[in-house]
Amino acid sequence: MFKSITNCKYFIIISCIISWSSFAGNVSPNDPAIASAHPLATQAGYDILKQGGNAFDAAVAVSSVLSVVEPYSSGLGGGGFFLLHRESDQFQIFVDAREKAPGKADADMYLDEFKNVIPRVSLDGTLAAGIPGLAAGLTHVSEKYGVLPLDQVLAPAIALAENGFPVYERFITALKVAIAIDVMSPKFIENFTLEGEIPEVGTLIKQPELANTLRVIASQGHDGFYNSELTETIVTESNESGSIWTTNDFKNYEIVEREPLQVKFSDYQLTLAPPPSSGGTTIATILNILSEYNYRDMNTAEFVHLITEAMRRAYKDRSEFLGDPDFVVVPVLKLISKNNAIKHSSSINLDRATPSKQIGKSFEANPKEKGTETTHFSILDQDGNRVSTTQTINTWFGSGYMLPSAGFILNNEMDDFSAKAFAPNRYGLVHGEANSKAPNKRMVSSMSPTFIESKDDLAILGTPGGAKIITMVLLSLISWTEGADADAMTSGRRFHHQYLPDEIHHEKDAFGEDVIDSLVSKGHSLKEIGDYGNMQVVTYKKSDGSVKASSDPRALIENSEIDFY
Ligand code: DON
Repeated sequence: MFKSITNCKYFIIISCIISWSSFAGNVSPNDPAIASAHPLATQAGYDILKQGGNAFDAAVAVSSVLSVVEPYSSGLGGGGFFLLHRESDQFQIFVDAREKAPGKADADMYLDEFKNVIPRVSLDGTLAAGIPGLAAGLTHVSEKYGVLPLDQVLAPAIALAENGFPVYERFITALKVAIAIDVMSPKFIENFTLEGEIPEVGTLIKQPELANTLRVIASQGHDGFYNSELTETIVTESNESGSIWTTNDFKNYEIVEREPLQVKFSDYQLTLAPPPSSGGTTIATILNILSEYNYRDMNTAEFVHLITEAMRRAYKDRSEFLGDPDFVVVPVLKLISKNNAIKHSSSINLDRATPSKQIGKSFEANPKEKGTETTHFSILDQDGNRVSTTQTINTWFGSGYMLPSAGFILNNEMDDFSAKAFAPNRYGLVHGEANSKAPNKRMVSSMSPTFIESKDDLAILGTPGGAKIITMVLLSLISWTEGADADAMTSGRRFHHQYLPDEIHHEKDAFGEDVIDSLVSKGHSLKEIGDYGNMQVVTYKKSDGSVKASSDPRALIENSEIDFY
């Protein structure tokens, strides 16, 4: 894979205005295509398309079903980003349904009297939860961009919550993690275990309270979740378990429609996630640094060294400058400028690794999460409308707290803020003041729903994986420009550097022995970790209309039989 990467020339031009019409081909997709992490969600998406829905309707169906059947990854208690493309007028938008800090949050809420970080308060229980955004995202996408009524697109999720879904291996793995860290609230135990015991594969898990919550949203829309009797119950129950949520936090919650980041890379147009995601900015910064080099003649080891140095510098920028753009000025254009790439390149030594402490601060960072929780799906409908969505409650089963009446698990997204400046979070990520907590502020995310398009092809992609999302999407989109197909994009071996800790994390077989020897001789520390990520890719070839959907082989749910469109 990396051999071929090094044989190509990259060139990035930052472009805020692009002519999408120049990419519009005459052929339409032969079929729609959906890639998601669970066959029941994929099926629901195809069913909604069959009923006359468009990609945006299908997205609401897939998203809500994932909330039911993958409650360890995402749900109504969390948030997400929806990257949309409407084919008829080439309109693109990034729907930011990220959680917000409660109004009573303050910058020091996870510190003790000596200003030390209190372990796990930002991860376990109701104090770890931001105000959920997913329900607002679903109602917004449905009402503004869909063609079917909200109750119709939520029907598959309601049915699965009411009638149950069969337990599968991955669900059991997630339950084991929750049991090991002992975070499960009483309602969680009641819903997902047999009196504390892990259910067997195939056991039906029913969630009647969640079905009810979905029904309220289906009939009352946004207000059903954010300004209703249900809201009162959500706030009261969470307060009884220690949350600082208020009904005003919910009344004030709104999604934000943001301009996606547009960058040009070789012959490709990238549509990337803007802040409060750090994904697009970091990906563009890395690609810009690469394009400062003529590396067509580099061998794999030289290329991996170079891209690692680019990752190091881009993640350093991320740690200092990324924050909620509604609260802090995030200098995106400066970060993804050629000048910044030149500045970073001037400190890169092609023969030696640059110790991270030499270019910035030195902190202990020991990431605890590898990255398969959270979930992504990609959709292309037959009219060419597209959706790329990543949604999350953060770590496995989020905060572990399930609301007794509303039946969903609260996120622990507050851990994506810095507990204090440059204190590493669960992913070992460090952040400065730009990502400090403040009432109603959104925490920085790594979620990176992405489109990459040329005049001939299109790929829609994204993945879970915490801090590693960014480098997974980066490596995958580079491989796409080198001719990889959807399956190669989801299965390509992965590696990652995030500035701190100062080490290259890599999957088994990501590098040959010669590459490892070369990287070590240049001064890199390498750490082999297990497989990570759960990438979902849809591709479309404009010349013949062919489409392909591919799900990450690392996390495939077996025995799936999907009735395609
Ligand atoms: O928004 C973020 O960046 C994280 N909360 C995503 C969490 C995630 O991908 C979990 N996987 N390891």
